[in-house]
Amino acid sequence: MARTALVTGGSRGIGAAISKALKAEGCNVAATFAGNEEAAAAFTAETGIATYKWNVADYDESKAGIEKVEADLGPIDIVVANAGITRDVPFHKMTPQQWHDVIDTNLTGVFNTVHPVWPGMRERKFGRVIVISSINGQKGQFAQVNYAATKAGDLGIVKSLAQEGARAGITANAICPGYIATEMVMAVPEKVRDSIIAQIPAGRLGEPEEIARCVTFLASDDAGFVNGSTISANGAQFFV
Ligand code: CAA
Repeated sequence: MARTALVTGGSRGIGAAISKALKAEGCNVAATFAGNEEAAAAFTAETGIATYKWNVADYDESKAGIEKVEADLGPIDIVVANAGITRDVPFHKMTPQQWHDVIDTNLTGVFNTVHPVWPGMRERKFGRVIVISSINGQKGQFAQVNYAATKAGDLGIVKSLAQEGARAGITANAICPGYIATEMVMAVPEKVRDSIIAQIPAGRLGEPEEIARCVTFLASDDAGFVNGSTISANGAQFFV
């Protein structure tokens, strides 16, 4: 039976690789995007994957968007909360706006994405919740008090959801990517990026597809006993 999967932020970066990998596994995939219409249209043209525009920071928009996806593709079995932003700045310069923007998108966005699909997963006795956290939620990061708080929060979310969903056939797991070759990492000043790569024992950035492979494993029917866990994929940069 083909599963239906929702990937937030699924038309670019790590999310695009996840959407493609789930499609290759035979899933019906819906990918959301926040604003970049051009990238979303190009992604759909390239992959045939449907894209939907909504702001994950807004509960009502997320709920309405999810209802539309379910009307188009069927009940969502797999949800990948991947959408995220950075507003990197040392704490003494961080504005309340920069704090709230990141919390609203990266953390409340996970609530807004999972909460509307959770009752259906409970009823159908199957669900896969996968949250894309970060190495920086595990170790913290200079200039990322806001981002690291959200990514550490993701780990609390999945550990709690795992306990609530286990009897209903739902698993909730997190992936903590290290530094992956995406626009987000390329936005870091080159000198800083070079110093980051020097701290990765693998000697390179990760590839989005290396994260997507972790997702397809966690999303599979036979990963049902893997629940509440965190997969770190960071080239040996950090161990929990
Ligand atoms: N550790 C310790 N000190 C640091 C530092 C670090 N990592 N980075 C900068 N500093 C120091 C600087 O050397 C400087 O010190 P001095 O004043 O003594 O010279 C001081 O902090 C202030 O630095 P700046 O004036 O350059 O600060 P700024 O306001 O211009 O901010 C920055 C620059 C935002 C910190 C920039 O360096 C940056 O973007 N750093 C990268 C942060 C990062 O790794 N973000 C991850 C993005 S990728 C991602 O988030 C994906 C994922 O999940 C992994």
